[in-house]
Amino acid sequence: MSPTILLYLAGALVAVILIRKAQLRIELSLAKHRSLAGHARWSRRFAALVPFYEYDESEIFRADDAPEDVAATRRAGFMRLASIYAQRFPRSARATAEVESGISDLQFTSRYRVPFQFSSYVRRHFKPATFLQSSSGATVTDLDGNVLYDLTGSYGVNVFGYDFYKGCIERGSALVRDLGPVLGAYHPVIAYNVTRLKEISGLDEVSFHMSGTEAVMQAVRLARYHTRRSHIVRFCGAYHGWWGDVQPGVGNPITARETYTLKDMDEASLRVLRKRRDIACVLVNPLQALHPNANAPGDSALIDSGRSAHFDRAKYAEWLAKLREVCTERKIVLIFDEVFLGFRLAQGGAQEYFGVCADLVTYGKTLGGGLPVGALCGRKDLMKRFREDRPADVCFARGTFNSHPYVMGAMHEFLRTLDSAELRAKYVGLEALWNGRAQRLNERLRAANLPVQVANLSSVWTITYSQPSRYNWMFQYYLRAAGLALSWVGSGRFIFPIDLPDADFTAVADRVLSAAEAMHRDGWWWAAPGLTNKAIKRRVLKEMARARGLSLPSGRSARPSAGTAAPSSRA
Ligand SMILES: Cc1ncc(COP(=O)(O)O)c(C=O)c1O
Repeated sequence: MSPTILLYLAGALVAVILIRKAQLRIELSLAKHRSLAGHARWSRRFAALVPFYEYDESEIFRADDAPEDVAATRRAGFMRLASIYAQRFPRSARATAEVESGISDLQFTSRYRVPFQFSSYVRRHFKPATFLQSSSGATVTDLDGNVLYDLTGSYGVNVFGYDFYKGCIERGSALVRDLGPVLGAYHPVIAYNVTRLKEISGLDEVSFHMSGTEAVMQAVRLARYHTRRSHIVRFCGAYHGWWGDVQPGVGNPITARETYTLKDMDEASLRVLRKRRDIACVLVNPLQALHPNANAPGDSALIDSGRSAHFDRAKYAEWLAKLREVCTERKIVLIFDEVFLGFRLAQGGAQEYFGVCADLVTYGKTLGGGLPVGALCGRKDLMKRFREDRPADVCFARGTFNSHPYVMGAMHEFLRTLDSAELRAKYVGLEALWNGRAQRLNERLRAANLPVQVANLSSVWTITYSQPSRYNWMFQYYLRAAGLALSWVGSGRFIFPIDLPDADFTAVADRVLSAAEAMHRDGWWWAAPGLTNKAIKRRVLKEMARARGLSLPSGRSARPSAGTAAPSSRA
């Protein structure tokens, strides 16, 4: 063959490779969600550009240009609520203030409860009160003796009410007391835990960890080890713990180079999975079915009423089935991250509820019976941590506290009780029960002409706001004043025990309604005719530009502050 032909052939080969690379790149871009949450790198760049500024006393009640009389009503309502807080939560607030400077997590959560422009003013008047003295069933009691319905769900742990977990811890501790804190060797209770987890997950083997984050890390590491591929796929908005590779956007200071963040419930993502050869695993957090492609909703991001949520079980199940098919076809490991939802939707978890089997499944939170835990269940071939033919090529994962006797004891009691007729009965008609409750509350809110609705995935709820407003974040303070305890994400997540009695639910619903009525009376939901969420966003962007010293044509003034802390939120 002549050198010229060889040159042509080499050129053609290079061209084919480059075209193929470009195709893959384009397909990857098409599979990214258009929001910032879909573009990890851009979201970090944007976050770094957001300047700190805050509203002063004259702006705080008129960030939407409300007339003076509305601003005065808001101010009066705000001050009244603040004095209720001061009278009702003094000891809890004092105890929080005493430790705040020494607990960095507390400083973070206190700061990020409302959009940053309002944050310091609100904090001056509503002192965070993070201390509690006791819990019972669905309620908690603070240091001042206030009994509040607990809607925090302890980050999702509380599936059956706090007394249930106290029982698991007590009985579990009694089981393992003689062995005590000995690590490395196992207490015999572990055998039952392994048997039950294998039955529940439908998988062959189990490994124990200390947190959900660790269980996810191990799942991903094993997927990479066995497929010998580098990249992981997570879906836009999904939370899988705080480890770097699964949190590529805001919150993680460095780039997660081996993570693809793809659009949830979208054919373009399936195309990427079909074509690329570097994908080891796909992570699914089924909680995203409530708000696909959006981050976990928190009130600090409530700059307008753009939060939306809607759960469609059939559609999500159909999506998971397609995902299962593509993963099988491409030998990609499908990981269900059930750390949050495991045991909440069905006894067999999200796999049973959506009718799809994964290759690896992570559990955590409630599984520990009230103690900290993470667990990974998986197919035998994927769980193996060594290669028979290459003894030095191992996949290491242990951890000092894995299989701690007390955790295994409480888990034993959790799993044993889960199998009882009494607990099995709690899952019968569960979805209809919670859908009916959500529907009835929505009807009551609509009948009262309040711009608040709830969306739910069984017993996990989020509040949505049906009319544009800059002040929806105030709702969390009215809810607390009405006797409802929320986590730091405020109205973004209500997590109920699945077996909450009707009378308690009615009390919670009454309180949501009365809180919304009070907020309405205090003028927070006044809106200029024709106001849109888009207009609110545009205005805030202009304020940011101005605070960075860029001049833009119109908009209200925003006072730049000496502090320049860039806000960030949990991705
Ligand atoms: C789906 C999911 N995965 C993983 C985690 C991390 O679990 P942990 O906080 O126990 O590390 C969480 C925590 O909220 C979660 O919701």
